[in-house]
Amino acid sequence: MVDIVPATVPAGTVAGGPTLPQRRRLVTEVPGPRSRELFARRAAAVPPGVGTALPVFVERAGGGVLVDVDGNSLVDLGSGIAVVNVGNAAPAVVSRVTEQVQRFTHTCFMITPYAGYVEVCEALNRLTPGVHEKRSMLLNSGAEAVENAVKIARAYTGRPAVVAFDHGYHGRTLLTMTLTAKSRPYKSTFGPYAPEVYRVPMAYPFRWPGGPERCADEAYERFVDVLTTQVGPESVACVVVEPIQGEGGFVVPAPGYLARVASFCAEHGIVLVADEVQTGFGRTGDWFASEHEGVVPDLVTTAKGLGGGLPIGGVTGRAEIMDSVHVSGLGGTFGGNPVACAAALGAIETIERDGLVERARRIGETVLPRLRALADRHEVVGDVRGRGAMLAVELVAGRGDLTPNPAALSAVVRRCHAEGVVVLTAGTYGNVLRLLPPLVIGDELLADGLDVLDAAFAALD
Ligand SMILES: Cc1ncc(COP(=O)(O)O)c(C=O)c1O
Repeated sequence: MVDIVPATVPAGTVAGGPTLPQRRRLVTEVPGPRSRELFARRAAAVPPGVGTALPVFVERAGGGVLVDVDGNSLVDLGSGIAVVNVGNAAPAVVSRVTEQVQRFTHTCFMITPYAGYVEVCEALNRLTPGVHEKRSMLLNSGAEAVENAVKIARAYTGRPAVVAFDHGYHGRTLLTMTLTAKSRPYKSTFGPYAPEVYRVPMAYPFRWPGGPERCADEAYERFVDVLTTQVGPESVACVVVEPIQGEGGFVVPAPGYLARVASFCAEHGIVLVADEVQTGFGRTGDWFASEHEGVVPDLVTTAKGLGGGLPIGGVTGRAEIMDSVHVSGLGGTFGGNPVACAAALGAIETIERDGLVERARRIGETVLPRLRALADRHEVVGDVRGRGAMLAVELVAGRGDLTPNPAALSAVVRRCHAEGVVVLTAGTYGNVLRLLPPLVIGDELLADGLDVLDAAFAALD
């Protein structure tokens, strides 16, 4: 239940983190007056090209809540786009970052190294799928991780071509924007794009023309056809795939499809890059989503959940591939910054110590039945999908009519936001509601958020 009480912040209270009261509490309309004031300043200082999903300015956050500058406490079902899997200001992240920031903040790992970088790489080598010998390198973001994975795959194979998927999303730099499928808002007006990028269909069961049963087989046939007739497997450096697509709408590939793509890659000397930037670090109920399909990628890209809220990305892969790049061919001034490494070690420690991978599974078991019940009640819910704490609802025109329904989604999201529940959108057609709660969210808070979602759908009728 939402508490309607006056905004009072206890004097001297500055900390966020899990000790914040874990409840939804609205003291003004959302956004409130202070947020609106800041938004006006933002409009004068920041270009509109940097979008805003919900114009509420956050003052502190922790566990499953965001507290705004007006004193409203909102339920966080977005985790800053799958970043704060361990919750905002998680104690192990805060303490390690505080300690590190007091020791030193930067040396550049390529100039004078430090242990934290090596420790994060050791953890990535241990946690990513496969027991083969691995190496890791660190970057600042997911896009940079994907860029570097492509550089490494090209250096290793001596081949130019990169294959990406319909509905894929890999970032906003030139190469990763090119790999990304969706035109607006990500690509339109920003061309020309990078060369030697080819696109194949994704095995998207809900929208596969031949139906979900034939999806894996037919999508694989199309994959092989494009690679053999349009690109030539001998020209392909790497295939870059999200094991569950994120921005594209939480598309879970038809079972067996990814494993067949992986076998094709192995047969033709193509490097398989699993982009686990959004799916990694327990999000899907395993450390990495590739594991669900029994796929062991050659390279894995990570970011988001790795840093517990600080910017860091990684590329982890087979030692022979990672070691193929010439000395000093990889790096960057800030990649694997010591403070970000301290945060990553705190996030990994928290996920392991608190059993958050298992917790993600339990979140899935709790939420999926509620989303399926929504589908039973509302014709606009065309599909419910996802794994662990990465769950989505695709909205359509009605039963048996798959026409995307972004208008209904906007209405649902507006209502959730107004009631103090932060939900996100996704999908090539802008018609997918996605839920990415922090893995530390409490059952009661989660249930409250879902009650608000239920009411938002009911209001459509
Ligand atoms: C699968 C995937 N890859 C790459 C990226 C880009 O990451 P970043 O925004 O950190 O550059 C994202 C971000 O949403 C993502 O979801």
